[in-house]
Amino acid sequence: MQYKKRTHTCGELRPSHIGQPITLTGWVDTRRDLGGVIFIDLRDRYGITQVVFGPQYEEKAHQLAKELRSEYVISVTGKVEQRPEGTINPKILTGEVDVVGMELVILNKAENPPFAIEDDIDTNEDLRLKYRYLDLRRSEMQKRLLFRHKMYQITRKYFDEHNFVEIETPVLMKSTPEGARDFLVPSRINPGKFYALPQSPQTYKQILMVAGFDRYFQVVKCFRDEDLRADRQPEFTQIDVEMSFIDELDIQTIVEGLMKKFFKELLNIEVQTPFPRLSYKEAMEGYGSDKPDLRFGLKFADFSELVKDSGFKVFSESVKKGNVVAGFAVPGGAGFTRNQMDNLVDFTKSLGVGGLAYIKLTDKGIDSAIEKFLGNEICLKICEAAGAKPGDNVFIVSDTWQKTYSTLGTLRLEMAKRLNLTDENKWNLLWVVDFPMFEYSEEEKRFVAMHHPFTSPKPEDEHFLNTDPPKARARAYDLVLNGNEIAGGSIRIFNSEMQSKVFSLLGIGTEEAKTKFGFMLDAFKFGAPPHGGIAFGFDRIAMLLTNSKSIRDVIAFPKTSSGYSLMDDNPSEVDKKQLDELHIKLK
Ligand code: AMO
Repeated sequence: MQYKKRTHTCGELRPSHIGQPITLTGWVDTRRDLGGVIFIDLRDRYGITQVVFGPQYEEKAHQLAKELRSEYVISVTGKVEQRPEGTINPKILTGEVDVVGMELVILNKAENPPFAIEDDIDTNEDLRLKYRYLDLRRSEMQKRLLFRHKMYQITRKYFDEHNFVEIETPVLMKSTPEGARDFLVPSRINPGKFYALPQSPQTYKQILMVAGFDRYFQVVKCFRDEDLRADRQPEFTQIDVEMSFIDELDIQTIVEGLMKKFFKELLNIEVQTPFPRLSYKEAMEGYGSDKPDLRFGLKFADFSELVKDSGFKVFSESVKKGNVVAGFAVPGGAGFTRNQMDNLVDFTKSLGVGGLAYIKLTDKGIDSAIEKFLGNEICLKICEAAGAKPGDNVFIVSDTWQKTYSTLGTLRLEMAKRLNLTDENKWNLLWVVDFPMFEYSEEEKRFVAMHHPFTSPKPEDEHFLNTDPPKARARAYDLVLNGNEIAGGSIRIFNSEMQSKVFSLLGIGTEEAKTKFGFMLDAFKFGAPPHGGIAFGFDRIAMLLTNSKSIRDVIAFPKTSSGYSLMDDNPSEVDKKQLDELHIKLK
């Protein structure tokens, strides 16, 4: 097919082009046939230009333009003209001009699209994912992917300028247990053996430090077979970083520098560094989360001391058992009706605790069903500790430390949502540090690493590894943006004895450690430098900075929440022959 190549893009023409002959190519966005003339909005990724066809300009082109429908691909040659007075469109960059169509070539026809190619469409997401190529034609999706593109460029430039080396690590690797399940790949030439797709390049980047690379980074795909949520995908991208001869502050400073650049270059916002730091304990006891959203208050207070000798057995007995009594003041909550409170009590119970107690503080004083057990004075002290003002309502929960604070944390987010307390224009960045080394897994009935098994304990807590392991804190840190964990890392163990000890505390025996990580323990015997690192959740950052509701909106070809790709229908069955070659028999 003969057609002229474009001379300009659809976002380019301005009054300075008036009078020039030009050729544009693109997709028909809209077509209006006004009888005498036909108007076409022609679209490509750079913008939209209005083209007019009419018998007074060129009859042949005008006749052909009658056939045009949405999403036809065309090439138009014509002349740029000033738009008549009153028809200028300030909403588009090319809105001061028109192109008068003299030659038209239909390069391809298109079926009627299943949804409109425009912003803010109200279409079921599955349909968008099935026809992803049409969804990606929409301007808001193009903007998101171009934003992502800029993020890659900023990242690479930043790390290069700071002397980091980009090194690719294998996609077919040995499994590194980091909390999620591995995706496995059977090996045809090694019957019965499997590769794992990396949950992260953790072991490789540490080995690159042993190899002397000193500063490594990689923009890398990671794969985790875990339950999916709005901020999780089975394959996602990390900016992975590792450094030698450094401490926490060096890594955090490098990370803060990149975040500063992202905000400045992508959103023109200056963020202040260093970011505030909260210990895990402060974050949990203050906000009930290891990724607290501090765009709003609702900070907790501990009432255990106040109630431990009170006549209210539910609280006093609980404190005697070693539990806590804590809560927070809900602004304006004294006005909640009985119904609203019953609903909140049920909500709290559904989180796995016995209930929710509350004390309303009104202009007339305390209004609470538990006043008769606690007494007026203790109720007033609780309100004071929670910073309640008249009109507020203090919500109180009592259970184990973990349950109390995680329940309050969920309740805090729920109240912020119901009362609309989040300032959407704020960006809240902070570090959470001093995580415990281990957490107890109810599922596995054993301790698991809170970050991962290669994380170093804090030197002053090393003795707890022998006496009271749950008390040992790790040299681990997470970066939090608006209540989302956007990066996590740690200073690593770098000698094989300490690594073996941590493996054994995690229930990984000597033999198992040898089979799984022998290569790493070996590497550590050949001069491993002190090192540490971090990994950013690239997709999550893109999601937050573009104000997208879901991580799927910033990924070109994402999976659904059941791990499915609707466009190319995968995962899918394979031929028996393929399975035979892989020595695999299906049940
Ligand atoms: P971690 O497991 O904390 O650390 O992962 C780092 C960051 O990756 C993002 N992330 C995800 N994003 C989308 N979908 C997922 N399924 C998903 N899982 C994690 C999060 C998280 O903060 N190797 C260590 C890093 C290190 O120690 O250096 C690691 O992978 O934003």
